[in-house]
Amino acid sequence: MAAEDGEVAAGFTVTPWEVSGKVDYDKLVRLFGTTPIDKKLLERLKKHSNGTLHPFLKRKLFFSHRDLDVLLDGFEKNGEKFALYTGRGPSGRTTIGHLIPWMFTKYLQDTFNAELYFQLTDDEKFLIKDGLTIEDVIAFTQDNALDVVACGFDPKKTRIFADTEYIKTLYKTAISVAKKITFSTAKAVFGFKNDSNIGIIFFPAIQAAPAFLPSIIEGKPVPVLIPCAIDQDPYWRIARDVAPKLGFPKPAAIHSKFIPSLGSGGKMSASIPETSIFTTDSEDVARKKVMNAFSGGQATVAEQKKLGGNPEVCSAFQYFVFLFENDDAKLGVLESECRSGRMVCGDCKKMLADRVCKFLNEHQERREKAKDVINDFMVRD
Ligand code: TYM
Repeated sequence: MAAEDGEVAAGFTVTPWEVSGKVDYDKLVRLFGTTPIDKKLLERLKKHSNGTLHPFLKRKLFFSHRDLDVLLDGFEKNGEKFALYTGRGPSGRTTIGHLIPWMFTKYLQDTFNAELYFQLTDDEKFLIKDGLTIEDVIAFTQDNALDVVACGFDPKKTRIFADTEYIKTLYKTAISVAKKITFSTAKAVFGFKNDSNIGIIFFPAIQAAPAFLPSIIEGKPVPVLIPCAIDQDPYWRIARDVAPKLGFPKPAAIHSKFIPSLGSGGKMSASIPETSIFTTDSEDVARKKVMNAFSGGQATVAEQKKLGGNPEVCSAFQYFVFLFENDDAKLGVLESECRSGRMVCGDCKKMLADRVCKFLNEHQERREKAKDVINDFMVRD
């Protein structure tokens, strides 16, 4: 089914360049043809991390995969090492939504002692975003790379590269990929139209290329795992399609849901700054955004006390679930305090604002330190 037909049928849109509507993740798994993460797979992952499940797995933020079981088979049975590959399209400042796959990648790097390839697609963002100049994306690339380093990756095991600086290394692989993808496949997977510019039509080959780079660099087949939110999956469909034709292992992927915006729906997105928390927001700005967040509360304190709140539709509550309250018992108390009306939204948001500010302070400290070591991570041609 063509991407667009699928989107219309589903009543929401998820492409690498647009996420809109209320995403039904079960439907998306069926539409994209990915596999839900089941209990058996969670147990296997738990075993590799000393019997504990990463909070993002426990809370089902990472919910879907492609061939992660196959990758683990190789790792467990034959000690087959794998590499990690993830990235960022530098079109603006980094939000805490972008950090989700990177924080998870850091956990995977530590757990599996894996090399990481991190792509900054300055070319993609220049090609897709009206009004962004090359100079803009290059400035965002340098800025965003600091957030990547601030996640704590091991410099000895991490290569960060921007496409415009690393194209000589990527190009042979990218054109080999491109030669195997027809325009009709690219249209079906990405929804390209006659008025799409030809740069963006070629671009998927550039994002597929790093999935094969570990094999090229090591001179032998190296399995690759790609942690990302589910919007990036179309790229892996074509990468997996061409992999055997080029003699590379098919990349595996693990997908997250989207951290919601602080508004009344949709994902956190840098293009709507009022409802997004940026890693560089000051404490005042972040606090204000959280205090203005859409909540599941009633119109007045009196009504809240009488009727209680609706945590399932509350953006603030989702932040506790996904990022800011790891303790299940404490989360349960928060939920029942909300539902019973004993907790009013202002107090809940204040508690969330405190945690967000603490998180930002710590990230910003590491981000400052990243300025001194960034060149230990960057690779250039
Ligand atoms: P970009 O810059 O749009 O997003 C960077 C990463 O963040 C994920 N993401 C989110 N995750 C959780 N909640 C959100 N609200 C949210 N918004 C974005 C994205 O899925 C992505 O993983 N084309 C890519 C850059 C790229 C890449 C890759 C990403 C190149 N190679 C390999 C992942 C893996 C992009 O523009 O990402």
